[in-house]
Amino acid sequence: MTRISITVDGVRYDDDVAPRTLLVQHLRDNLGKVGTVVGCDTSNCGACTILMTDPSGGDRPVGVKSCSLLAVQADGCEITTIEGLSAPDDSGELHPVQRAFSDRHALQCGFCTPGMIMAAVDLLADNPDPSDAEIREGLEGNLCRCTGYQNIVRAVRDAAAAMRAEGTSAEPAEPTPEAVDAATPDRGAPPEPVPDDVVPQPVP
Ligand code: FES
Ligand code: FES
Repeated sequence: MTRISITVDGVRYDDDVAPRTLLVQHLRDNLGKVGTVVGCDTSNCGACTILMTDPSGGDRPVGVKSCSLLAVQADGCEITTIEGLSAPDDSGELHPVQRAFSDRHALQCGFCTPGMIMAAVDLLADNPDPSDAEIREGLEGNLCRCTGYQNIVRAVRDAAAAMRAEGTSAEPAEPTPEAVDAATPDRGAPPEPVPDDVVPQPVP
């Protein structure tokens, strides 16, 4: 096991992890960040996208597919998941990209949505006024099986316009000290007991 320290959604977590543990597994299974979902586990679908600082430098957190990294590679990094994107003061106010996805009905089953929103935030932090072609190119690493992408592009366009009008950046705001104090690191849901009658039994 290797000791790592990661700050996730403003809260620092120190944990021992197996060297082979994927970052997405650590976020979901050990830290309870189940808003980050696994669609493929092979860095194809983008459902597991998060924002992460670059340990070797870089001026802002960037979108990464958390199934494509080992947890140990995130040691010392700061991560924002979909669960830390909305207002840091617990007011329930959505991030402009979340709001636009809701207003534009840019989802159906919603499975791709956490990763799609995080990738859109990354895109807009880099390019606050993207063309539709640039939005499609920016989200090309994220697959959606439901929507046909039209409303996703509209939502990203709307979010960009709203943030330009507000004079705000897509980058998530820093959590307030109060919000960090109030956060209770969730060690993940305990495994559910499986009743005997649903466990296949050997044929006598
Ligand atoms: Fe599909 Fe990570 S789960 S890219
Ligand atoms: Fe279902 Fe995108 S809304 S996969």
